[in-house]
Amino acid sequence: MKLKTMLTAASAAVFLSACSGEGEHSATHSEVAEHSQHAMHASYEQPDTSGAYVAMLHGTEGNENIHGFVMFERDEDGVFVIAHAEGLPANSVHGFHVHEFGDCSAPDATSAGGHFNPHGRDHGGPDSEARHVGDLGNLRTDDNGIAHLEMLDHKLELSGPNSIIGKAVVVHAQEDDLTSQPVGNAGARIACGVIAAD
Ligand code: CU
Ligand code: ZN
Repeated sequence: MKLKTMLTAASAAVFLSACSGEGEHSATHSEVAEHSQHAMHASYEQPDTSGAYVAMLHGTEGNENIHGFVMFERDEDGVFVIAHAEGLPANSVHGFHVHEFGDCSAPDATSAGGHFNPHGRDHGGPDSEARHVGDLGNLRTDDNGIAHLEMLDHKLELSGPNSIIGKAVVVHAQEDDLTSQPVGNAGARIACGVIAAD
């Protein structure tokens, strides 16, 4: 069963509740996984979450009302990505990447390092032939500041020496123009989350 068919709006809401409470930003990965199991059991009997990995997004300093998650699942054609974030400005566009270090501890998330770039390429967009592996393009929000993106990617890897597991996902204040070097001119880091095994 595919994640994309499992993740209903209702399960997304339950999933988000894992980090929406004040002071609960330190929820452990096992708690997160438990929430996710509940969410999926709510709608489906025997979800297969093997091969699915999750990053819980938390707002950086001054952006604490932002939260969300990004899920990565193996697909026979690549890696399927589901990103969901709330608390962003309405009708806005935000660069969105996998960064090289799984460390969101700095108040501005600079601890996550640069874009994950194991092949030494230039910055690009998700559809660029040459790009950083971590270049996932942009999240776009609706009237309520909610972003939801589902996409199939052909450069991310979930195992082996270039695996993104244990790296970080970062959301930026500005749009990634997909061409400016080295990071698409996407500005400050407003949310960050480490990609952990589900
Ligand atoms: Cu980034
Ligand atoms: Zn990049």
